[in-house]
Amino acid sequence: MTKSRRTTSHLLVPLTVTATAATAAAFIFAYALKRESSATTKAVSARNLHRVSGGAHLLLGDAAVISKNFDRLHDFFLEMFEQTNNEPFLIALPFVSPTIMVNDPATVEFILKTQFPVFQKGVKSRELFQDFLGHGIFNVDGERWKSQRKLAANIFNVKNFKDFVNDVFSSEMNEFSSVLETYSETGEEFDLQDLFFKFTFDSFMEIGFGVQMKSVRAAEKAPFMVAFDAIQSRIVKRVMNSMWKYSIHSEQIKTIREFGRLVIQEKRLTQASGEGNERDLLSLLMKVKDEEGNLPSDEDLVDYVLNFLLAGRDTTAVTLSWAIFLLHQHPQTLHALLTEIKTVLTTDSAPTYDQIRTEMPYANAVFHETLRLYPSVPRGRKEVQKDITLPDGTFVPKGYWVSWSGYSMGRTEAIWGPDAKEFKPERWLKMEKQPSPFDYPAFNGGPRICLGKGMAELEGVFVLVEMMRQFEITVVKEDEVGYGMSLLLPMKKGLRVKCSLREA
Ligand code: HEM
Repeated sequence: MTKSRRTTSHLLVPLTVTATAATAAAFIFAYALKRESSATTKAVSARNLHRVSGGAHLLLGDAAVISKNFDRLHDFFLEMFEQTNNEPFLIALPFVSPTIMVNDPATVEFILKTQFPVFQKGVKSRELFQDFLGHGIFNVDGERWKSQRKLAANIFNVKNFKDFVNDVFSSEMNEFSSVLETYSETGEEFDLQDLFFKFTFDSFMEIGFGVQMKSVRAAEKAPFMVAFDAIQSRIVKRVMNSMWKYSIHSEQIKTIREFGRLVIQEKRLTQASGEGNERDLLSLLMKVKDEEGNLPSDEDLVDYVLNFLLAGRDTTAVTLSWAIFLLHQHPQTLHALLTEIKTVLTTDSAPTYDQIRTEMPYANAVFHETLRLYPSVPRGRKEVQKDITLPDGTFVPKGYWVSWSGYSMGRTEAIWGPDAKEFKPERWLKMEKQPSPFDYPAFNGGPRICLGKGMAELEGVFVLVEMMRQFEITVVKEDEVGYGMSLLLPMKKGLRVKCSLREA
């Protein structure tokens, strides 16, 4: 018990807290715990929920065990589900709503689709992410969400996808390949994950906002990217730190918001000059109206830009990094992929939209198998708007969070069979029916299913195919590869590789 207090104290009470503030906090904490514990008892008695620590601390709840496992939380959740035979378990942390973790596709369908209005992002989550995501699509519910989704949906169609492949991905890929060629000449080791982030950033800035960045050629990371990545890894810890509001990294927030404002200024200038594309994402988002029918302010637009950059840049870059790592670990899979590439692409031309969609099932399977094991959004969470009972009989009181881990579900034998933890793209080719978004929630499901799924599949497979047919990639520090805790699932120390030109 003494040990657990020592382990978590740095998360709960910063050293600078004054005696008065500490006393006030103690009262609030005691009140909060009383409230939470009565609600917790209600849920536990309804279905005898499992607990993470097998008996929570009276004051700190499960803080000690969660803090101890924080850097490997996704595997910790998986282990918990293996122990509970996939039954839900409860996590209680001081000052935040209790969370019920679930691992069953029927429950995930209930949350994301059947009872969609009951399971919202919610006010508590919104508060945690407000300075980063503001009123952007990831952080809102109701009308504000619906109007952004409806307008943004206009650009995610087949006609645009074909143009993305022909124009944006091809030209950005040329830039990317020339950087790789330089590395292959020098034999220098480099961080491929970092390069993927630059590639997806450049591509999305062009597709979404009509801005050309060419950051893939820059040796250093742009200040925007440094700040954007740092915020994401800090922000996930807020739920563990009741004092987070007093340690906001406002400089980083300022950096990313200033970048967002520049994007908007640039767009307004091109609009005023009558040049540029009026149907790109930002032009569409400028038409989103709020509940009172007002057009968005510039600060709202900054929120939208940052949310879409998070969606369009980070998710795909992270997936590509894991795919290259898995191919490096599985030479036979790489061989099968190269065989498909050689069969379909008989000239030097880059793959077309139709080739990717219909003639390269193995490459698509590699992409999805990667996401099954390493979903770039590793965990989803919703706030419950009214008392409700889940399909398995678990009672969930209003105000609780329910959460599912795509990482854990992808590795669950009850869903994927005894070889669930193995990387086997072939499984996707043998399936009679593709898994539902609730068996495989890498792209979410129901009304809030990922808007960019088609674009991500296209971009991911395009880059994978183009890169592997031109270059041999060797991961140099294999044992250092592991995930970092962040909003997404990046590699903690990047992906250190060397590359060389592939022999024809
Ligand atoms: C491998 C790549 C991708 C994965 C795994 C992925 C996964 C997801 C997931 C899990 C969500 C739900 C997140 C939440 O509600 O908290 C989501 C939402 C979303 N994604 Fe993706 N995504 C990917 C790529 C993209 C791309 C390239 C775009 C293009 C802009 C995009 C746009 C969106 C949008 C706009 C939403 C919000 C949908 C809504 O709330 O209605 N995604 N995505």
